Amino acid sequence: MHFLPAFSSLLLCTTFSAAAPFWGIFEQTSLTPYLTATISSSIKSALKKADVIPDVLAHDFKPTFSLLLSYPSTHDHVFLGNVLPRSNVSSKPVFEIHSLSPHPTPTQKNATYTLVLTDPDATSRAEPVKAQMCHWIVTGLKLQPKDNSNAYILDARTTSEEHSSTLSELISYFAPAPPPKTGYHRYIFVLLVPKDSQDDGKGLQKPADRPHWGYGEEGAGVKEWADDNGLKAVGANFFYAQNEKQ
Ligand SMILES: *[C@@H]1O[C@H](CO)[C@@H](O)[C@H](O)[C@H]1NC(C)=O
Ligand SMILES: *[C@@H]1O[C@H](CO)[C@@H](O)[C@H](O)[C@H]1NC(C)=O
Repeated sequence: MHFLPAFSSLLLCTTFSAAAPFWGIFEQTSLTPYLTATISSSIKSALKKADVIPDVLAHDFKPTFSLLLSYPSTHDHVFLGNVLPRSNVSSKPVFEIHSLSPHPTPTQKNATYTLVLTDPDATSRAEPVKAQMCHWIVTGLKLQPKDNSNAYILDARTTSEEHSSTLSELISYFAPAPPPKTGYHRYIFVLLVPKDSQDDGKGLQKPADRPHWGYGEEGAGVKEWADDNGLKAVGANFFYAQNEKQ
C-alpha cells in the first residue's frame, strides 16, 4: 500500500498540538457542548470568510469533525487559511481527524470516511476555468478509539495492519502547483461521510478527470461528486499557496 511510507514517517513527527495551541483543544477528552459549538462555529466562520462557503461547501455545512493535517517532510500544518510554500506541500500530508462530539454516535463510529483535496482557484481565483481541480481522494477511513482516552479519531499515523489495509487512494495525491502569476489558490480538504448509515462507501465512483472533477463545467467539484456518491461533508480545513513568480 502506497500509504505506508508516508504514514510511518509521521511517527517521527512531533504531536500536532505542540505547534498550535488552538488545535490542542481537540486533544481534550471531554469537550462540553459549549466548546463543541464554539469550535464548530469558528471553523465555519473561517470557511465563510475565505468564501470556501459557498465556493466548495454549501451554506448549511456544519463541521462535526476537526481535521488536523500535517506535511511530515516539513512539519508544516494546515490551519484554516495559513499560507504554505508550494515546495512544502509536494508530498502527501498525514492527518488526524477528531470527532467534535465527546460521544460519537454508533453511526459515526461505524461509518467509512473519505478525505478529499480540491482547488477551486484553478487556474486562478479570478479565472477559475479549470476549477475545481481534484488533487486527492483517500477513502476507507474508520474512526477508532484513541489510546488511553475516550476520544475517537481517524488517525493516519496508525501502523496497525488492520487499519492501513482498509485505506485506499481513489485519486492519487497531485501536489499543489499554482501556475506563475495566478495569485493565491485555496487548497481545501473536505471530510465526507455516507448519508446512508448502511452504505459501506465501497461503491465510490472515481472522477473521470481532475479538472472540474470530470464534470466538464466551471466550478463543479466536491458538491457534485459528494451528491452523486451519496456523501455529505462533515469537516474541512484549508491553506493558501501561490507560485513564487507573481
Ligand atoms: C517550509 O519548510 C522549510 C523546511 O522544512 C521550513 O524551514 C519552513 O519554515 C517552511 N515554511 C513555512 C512557511 O512553513
Ligand atoms: C455498519 O456499517 C456497515 C457498512 O459498512 C453496514 O452494513 C451496517 O449496517 C452498519 N451497522 C450499523 C449498526 O449501523
